[in-house]
Amino acid sequence: MYCVKKVLDNIYWVGGNDRKTALFENMFPIPNGVSYNSYLILDEKTVLLDTVDHSISREFMENIEHLLGERNLDYIIVNHMEPDHCAIIGDIVLKYPEIQVVGNAKTFQMIEQFFPDIKFDRITVKEGDCLEIGKRKLNFYFSPMVHWPEAMVTFESVDGVLFSADAFGTFGALDGNLFADEYDFERVFLEDARRYYTNIVGKFGKPVQSLLSKASNLDIKCICPLHGPVWRENIGYFVDKYNKWSSYEAEEKGVMIAYASMYGNTENVANALAFMLSEKGIKNIKVYDVSTTHISQLVADTFKYSHIVLASPTYNAGIYPIMENYIRDIKALNVQNKTVAIVDNGTWANTAGKQMIKEISEMKNMNIIEKGFSILSSVNKDRENELNEFVDEIVKSFE
Ligand SMILES: Cc1cc2nc3c(=O)[nH]c(=O)nc-3n(C[C@H](O)[C@H](O)[C@H](O)COP(=O)(O)O)c2cc1C
Ligand SMILES: [Fe+2]
Ligand SMILES: [Fe+2]
Repeated sequence: MYCVKKVLDNIYWVGGNDRKTALFENMFPIPNGVSYNSYLILDEKTVLLDTVDHSISREFMENIEHLLGERNLDYIIVNHMEPDHCAIIGDIVLKYPEIQVVGNAKTFQMIEQFFPDIKFDRITVKEGDCLEIGKRKLNFYFSPMVHWPEAMVTFESVDGVLFSADAFGTFGALDGNLFADEYDFERVFLEDARRYYTNIVGKFGKPVQSLLSKASNLDIKCICPLHGPVWRENIGYFVDKYNKWSSYEAEEKGVMIAYASMYGNTENVANALAFMLSEKGIKNIKVYDVSTTHISQLVADTFKYSHIVLASPTYNAGIYPIMENYIRDIKALNVQNKTVAIVDNGTWANTAGKQMIKEISEMKNMNIIEKGFSILSSVNKDRENELNEFVDEIVKSFE
């Protein structure tokens, strides 16, 4: 059975949902599923914008057949070559051999790498090029590294529709409604959107900023991303989120406490710290055990909060490996502009704190609170004052 949805006159969503895959990119849990969006324009010419993941290829082909009826498919525009969107290009070209594939020079390099055996006609576009398809006009703007080097976006100028590729996408399947304004977006999607952005595109803040600046010159009335709902109202809300995330600016003043602990002593201090922070007026606090929290969640909340407390035992003269992995990840994702406080623990030679400071200080614009807190195996109330002073330093950094 086909499942399509009208976006605007002659523009249709022809994508699908995947609620079966446990891990996106075989790495990120997607308990709410994910949608792979593809769009079909039926003008004087028929145009498909991107395809979908292998997992939903049957539904996808049925959607296209249903809408095309007797018509042929004239163009396929390839905005992004990651296989969650390009997997079905081969099937499309085989089914519609007269189709012209539209992409940039880098797109075609990648098509040849992924589909070495397929022959097709091509139109190679450059920045700003226009494709006239009847009543509608399509312009192409390159968005390298959002989220691969070949990525581009397509702008339909008659109705102001931006086909934005991975930009403005989110995890989470579409439960019947296509448009973001049909959902309580903050409740249903925001967490997933943040986790999607920060983990998948988070490293590429500068390229995202370049795309946002290009987009600000276009009269955009609708955004059609490759994952998640379509935006036609209150677009500024989501653009603002993207602006914050891509400039590594915290969304909220608050503290995320990420701790590692084997025997519970570092954990004990992390909990005490959280309650003391609250006592002293900091109410926006999130505490995570790095061993039981997926790293993609830790990453998302690292982007979200202004202040991060890292608490780790020493392990084989190093940082506890799961904590170390998380720190390496936020470093690789270019996290910046955080205030960081350090708690470490050791029984015979405590070195974790020093090493966490080294890692964090190699990141951009990180304010490490000078006064750390070191645990010698465990803490009792003899150190209450000291812990209080440590908390005071964190509170002071909010001023
Ligand atoms: C495999 C392993 C390696 C460790 N390596 C060190 C070390 O190099 N230096 C140190 O001071 N403590 C080391 N420890 C001890 C823990 O860091 C210490 O007991 C700490 O108090 C544990 O904190 P927790 O109660 O929060 O788990 C190690 C523990 C384990 C299990
Ligand atoms: Fe992608
Ligand atoms: Fe994608």
